[in-house]
Amino acid sequence: MQINPYLFILPRTPGQIVWDYKNHKQFELNLEYSTRLAQLIDDPELYNSNHIIDAQLLNSGILTTSTQHTLEWGWDELSKIFHIGTKNIPCEHIPQDIHEWSRQYLDHCTEVLAVPAPDTERLACELIALPKPSRLPEDSLANVLISRKTCRTFTDEAVSLKEVGTLLYLSLGYLHERENDIDETLVEGLDARRSSPSGGGLNACEGFLHVHNVSGLKPGLYAYHPTDHALSFINPAPDSPLGQLLCGQHFINNLPAGLFITARFDKLWWKYEHSRAYRMAFVEAGHISQTFQLVATALGLNTWLTGALTDDQVETLLGLENNAEQPLFFVGCGHSDGQVMCKELKDLLSTRESQQ
Ligand SMILES: Cc1cc2nc3c(=O)[nH]c(=O)nc-3n(C[C@H](O)[C@H](O)[C@H](O)COP(=O)(O)O)c2cc1C
Repeated sequence: MQINPYLFILPRTPGQIVWDYKNHKQFELNLEYSTRLAQLIDDPELYNSNHIIDAQLLNSGILTTSTQHTLEWGWDELSKIFHIGTKNIPCEHIPQDIHEWSRQYLDHCTEVLAVPAPDTERLACELIALPKPSRLPEDSLANVLISRKTCRTFTDEAVSLKEVGTLLYLSLGYLHERENDIDETLVEGLDARRSSPSGGGLNACEGFLHVHNVSGLKPGLYAYHPTDHALSFINPAPDSPLGQLLCGQHFINNLPAGLFITARFDKLWWKYEHSRAYRMAFVEAGHISQTFQLVATALGLNTWLTGALTDDQVETLLGLENNAEQPLFFVGCGHSDGQVMCKELKDLLSTRESQQ
């Protein structure tokens, strides 16, 4: 008998809250139950199947007979609880197709909008007026910034390998252009530079290309190698569509190219002892995601992004199960008619409106 290793206990007088953060379950224990749990934590061999509390603790998963494979973790428990506790969020039902997704999304919006939105204006006693922005030059970074938008319909047109090369080099590649820009303070092995800043210069984020329709590349998952500006094949495309891996967002099934952004936690553990560094992984992923989108926009492509990953499935596909490298985010691009929402959702909305 073992104690489930994914528990934390919160005191809440008069009881104790036992939180199974991996399986997203909470239990409130009274003194009798918490006393017995304390005894079993002290010595799991005291477990007695005839003892009603013991049987209930086993039934609830607080105790377990199965061997638990725990993820190696270099920081303290706090970031581990947050990372695992926000993974594989139970979804009552993952939409199986685009119509189901549209219904679920629209119902969710209706439910949310039934409650008034929080105030968005920051209150201030006095405002200092700023000059109006001057007109921005044509064909500049400014234009790209203005043109970037999230689209949710993509055409079946392929993205070229050249475009993919540009996208990956400018978002994730180690820039040859900066090789001579070496400062004597830079540590050997930590001197590679990307277009995005990186916490501690570690380049802890990495990228896996999801190929659905890229000319010259067979569909599947590829790891990007930033030093060599090259790809390596990891896995063929799964049988289920991309939307299934992204929590049922089926409108994205024909997205030609995407990037799973991962973080090498072991690199961050190595340099930063405190779990505050966990925050930096997401900040870095955000920089890379935005750069990817800006490059794609400059190439005349449209973009989409999500943090809603079906974690276990994505990890398996990227070959990262129980690994110190973990997927955090997804960003993709392709040719689009520029629609913000898929046709199926718009059709459903007008049907519902006409029924009211
Ligand atoms: C952290 C983050 C997560 C997002 N997740 C999703 C998502 O799961 N699905 C989706 O369709 N859009 C997602 N988006 C896109 C936003 O809905 C979009 O950025 C927002 O509506 C503003 O539109 P714009 O990007 O065109 O300016 C996400 C954006 C961010 C920054």
